[in-house]
Amino acid sequence: MKIKVARDRWLNRPAFLFAAIGSAAGLGNAWRFPYVCYQNGGGAFLIPFLIALITAGIPLLILEFALGQKMQAGAPGAIAKIKKGWEGLGWGAIIISFVIMTYYAVIMAWGWNYLTSSLSVAWRGKAAEFFYRDILSLTVSPLNLGEISVPVIIGLALTWLIVWLILHRGVKVLGKVVLITVPLPVILLLILTIRAISLPGAFEGLSYYLKPDFSVLLDYNVWLAAYSQVFFSLSLGFGIMIAYASYLPRKSDITSNAIITAIADALIAFIAGFAVFGTLGYMAGVQNVDVEGVVTEGIALAFIAYPEAISLLPVGAGIFGLIFFLTLITLGIDSVFSITEAVITGFDDKFKISRSNLVAIICILGFLSGIIFTFGSGLYWLDIIDFFITNFGLAIIGLLQCILVGWVYNPAKMRAFINPISDRNLGVWWDYSIKYFTPFVLGISVIAALIQRIRFPYQDYPTSSLFLGGWLIIVLIIPISFFLAKVKASQDDFYLKP
Ligand code: PHE
Repeated sequence: MKIKVARDRWLNRPAFLFAAIGSAAGLGNAWRFPYVCYQNGGGAFLIPFLIALITAGIPLLILEFALGQKMQAGAPGAIAKIKKGWEGLGWGAIIISFVIMTYYAVIMAWGWNYLTSSLSVAWRGKAAEFFYRDILSLTVSPLNLGEISVPVIIGLALTWLIVWLILHRGVKVLGKVVLITVPLPVILLLILTIRAISLPGAFEGLSYYLKPDFSVLLDYNVWLAAYSQVFFSLSLGFGIMIAYASYLPRKSDITSNAIITAIADALIAFIAGFAVFGTLGYMAGVQNVDVEGVVTEGIALAFIAYPEAISLLPVGAGIFGLIFFLTLITLGIDSVFSITEAVITGFDDKFKISRSNLVAIICILGFLSGIIFTFGSGLYWLDIIDFFITNFGLAIIGLLQCILVGWVYNPAKMRAFINPISDRNLGVWWDYSIKYFTPFVLGISVIAALIQRIRFPYQDYPTSSLFLGGWLIIVLIIPISFFLAKVKASQDDFYLKP
């Protein structure tokens, strides 16, 4: 039996808050929110979005903060302390995090490549070619593996080196780093926005982003889009917020921290929309096409459409390219820190390996597993795995967490822990949200995603690759989680309530 060491701690409350906001505000804010908003009623979407934030996003965030803080453990430990038989649920979150971590780091690797090519605007006039051919060496199908892309694997190694440097000493160092990597992209986004709205055509773009269409409020798909965006954006269901809160002293505020994190995350997404749509509006004007003809989301927005738009700037294309990719990297990197930390915390709590060894092992494993995505077919695999794991993984874990606390434990008991230590009082409505409402919405999301997958399978990918990268991974998570839950903890206090 090893000697018990005191739990690592954040330096202060702002360090924790910045880290939580940094996790929440990631690529999703920049490349997903603006598009989802545009597609689901423009400015009118803000109504379902805010309602989703208040009725389910903030309640689940409070739940995750409370779990970590009360139990002083990451997802597996915190859940095991509530009900030993449920520990596997925590491991499910950790494995999902591990998978996401491996490909999120690859997206950072692409970002480094663009960052170093930005001053020369290497993609001017050929953004798609630059991305698919020069960076990725893309093959024609996921089954056509291709070769490892040297620039991507170098970028991947760089990402993991940075993650290791920042995480291996614990959350104190991380707390200092996020004081820079969280405000910096916000400042840069503001610079990009100001530049964008001073361009001709920008307002045309913005009107696509925000022009309200209130009729969509009757469409349940719009509400579903709002709830999924909120859950994903707050990094819920991955064990991240549980791990981060476990490094706070037991008697720290919970409710206000959750509200601040949620508002900051939403604001960052909202601002990003101005930079994105303003710039796309300008490009549509220059190319003399409709704004609809240039809007995209996700990888295509960040690595093709937006860089192309910037390359059309009359002056400063290089500088603004640099600013944009610096924004992308600083937005994304603290999400990578958080998801890696969730994995580290899960293993650290149970197996008590020395922190520095554990972090090195996880960074090396993260790098090695990420190599699959550096092949010429990597983009396809990333796309397939991302779809399955974020659609099903997040919602299933979130749903089970609600059932655990809402039905197996007792939300009123949890609230009795939260209220005396929090700045503000959480009403009984929270119990209802955790017991009925949030699990209901999450359940519907899982069913909707399933139906969508069955009715509209990816036409662009062979079935065998969907089976391998999608269903197989989802199914494998279950036995691995049970296995990790069954392995004996190296310290008995893993199951003891603090
Ligand atoms: N919240 C992050 C975003 O909006 C997403 C994320 C997912 C972060 C998983 C970390 C882990 O981009």
